[in-house]
Amino acid sequence: MLKNDLLLRAAKGLEVERAPVWLMRQAGRVLPEYRATRSKAKNFIEFVKNPELACEVTIQPVDILNVDAAIIFSDILVIPEAMGLPYQMIESKGPWFEHTVKNKNDIDNLIIADAEKLNYVIKAIQLTKKELDNRVPLIGFAGAPWTIFAYMIEGSGSKTFSKAKQFLYTQPELSHQLLEKITLSTINYLKAQVSAGADIVQLFDSWAGVLSEKMYYEFSLNYISKICDALSPLVPVTVFAKDAHYATQKISETSCHSIGLDWTMNPETARKFSSNKTLQGNADPCLLYAEESKIIEETQIMLRAFGKNRYICNLGHGLYPDIDKQKVKLFVDVVKEFTW
Ligand code: CP3
Repeated sequence: MLKNDLLLRAAKGLEVERAPVWLMRQAGRVLPEYRATRSKAKNFIEFVKNPELACEVTIQPVDILNVDAAIIFSDILVIPEAMGLPYQMIESKGPWFEHTVKNKNDIDNLIIADAEKLNYVIKAIQLTKKELDNRVPLIGFAGAPWTIFAYMIEGSGSKTFSKAKQFLYTQPELSHQLLEKITLSTINYLKAQVSAGADIVQLFDSWAGVLSEKMYYEFSLNYISKICDALSPLVPVTVFAKDAHYATQKISETSCHSIGLDWTMNPETARKFSSNKTLQGNADPCLLYAEESKIIEETQIMLRAFGKNRYICNLGHGLYPDIDKQKVKLFVDVVKEFTW
C-alpha cells in the first residue's frame, strides 16, 4: 500500500485532500545532486542504462523537492534504440541518430521491440520501487508514436520537423507502417513497466504542435488511443501533447485518465473541453525565473482555477536546467500548503 497515493486518486478522479504535485524533468540538471550522479557515468546513454544510477536520480527529487511522485529516470529515445536505431546524446546539442529511416527497407529492418531489449529500464523500475518503499507512486513513461517517429526520420531535434512531415505527406502508407511498429513496441514496453511496478504511465507527445489538426488525429492520436486502450485497464494513463490545445476534446474521448496541458491553454477552457478527465499542468516553467512573491501569486491563481479535484499540479513542460532549485522547492511548497 502506498503511503501517499494522492497522484493515483487524482488521476482516477477520486476525492483528494489537496492536489498532488510533481514536475516534468524533476530528475535533471536543476539538481546539483543529479549532476553529481551523472558525472559517475561515461555519458548519458551509459547513465540511462545503469539501473543503480537511474534509481538514485529518480529518488532524488522525492527526497530533495518533496514531490508527490517519482518518475523513472530514462529517455523516450530508448524505444528507437530497442527497435534497431541507436542514438547518441550530444552534449549541449541533444539527441543524434547516425542512421535514420528513409524508405520501406529501413522500416522492414526495424523490429517490434519486446521488454527484453529494455531490460535495463525494467531493472531500474524494480530497484526504484524497492528503494521508494511505497512512499510515493512511481510514474513510467514513453514517447508518443508520432514524437518517436519524428526523431527516427529526422535524426535529431528540429524546429519544424519538416523531414518527418515530408514523410507523412509523401509516404502516408509507410508512415502508418512505422507508426504501427512503434505503437506495438511501446505497448510491450509500457506493459513491462507496469509489471515491474510503475503505478501510472505518461505518454509524451512533445512534437504534437508541429502537425495540423487533421494530421494530428490521423498520424498521432489514433496511435495514442491504441496505447491508452492497452494500458488504461491496468493503470491510469496521462497523455501530454505539447502545443496541441486544439486536440484537448478529442484526447478526452480516448480511454486515458488524465491530460497534460502546456501553459498556452487556460484551465477554464481546458475543463470545458475535457470535463470527464483529470487535468495536469500547466505553469510556464519560466514562471520559476520570477521573484518569489510572483511565483506564489501565480501558482495560487492556477490552483484556484483548476480546483482541488481531478487536478495534478505540474509545469506545462520540463524544468529548464538553469532554474534555481530553491524556486522549484518554493513552487512545490506553495501547492502543498495551499488551503483549499
Ligand atoms: O525527470 C524526468 O522527467 C524523467 C526523465 C526524462 C528525461 N527525458 C531525462 C533526460 C524524461 C521523461 C524524458 C523525456 C524526453 N526525452 C522527451 C519528452 C519530454 C519533453 O521534454 O518534451 C523528449 C523530447 C526527450 C528527448 C531528449 N532527451 C532531448 C531533446 C534531450 C536533450 C535536451 C536537454 O535537456 O539536454 C534529452 C536529454 C535528457 N533526457 C536529459 C535528461 C535529464 C538531459 C541530459 C543531461 O543530463 O545532460
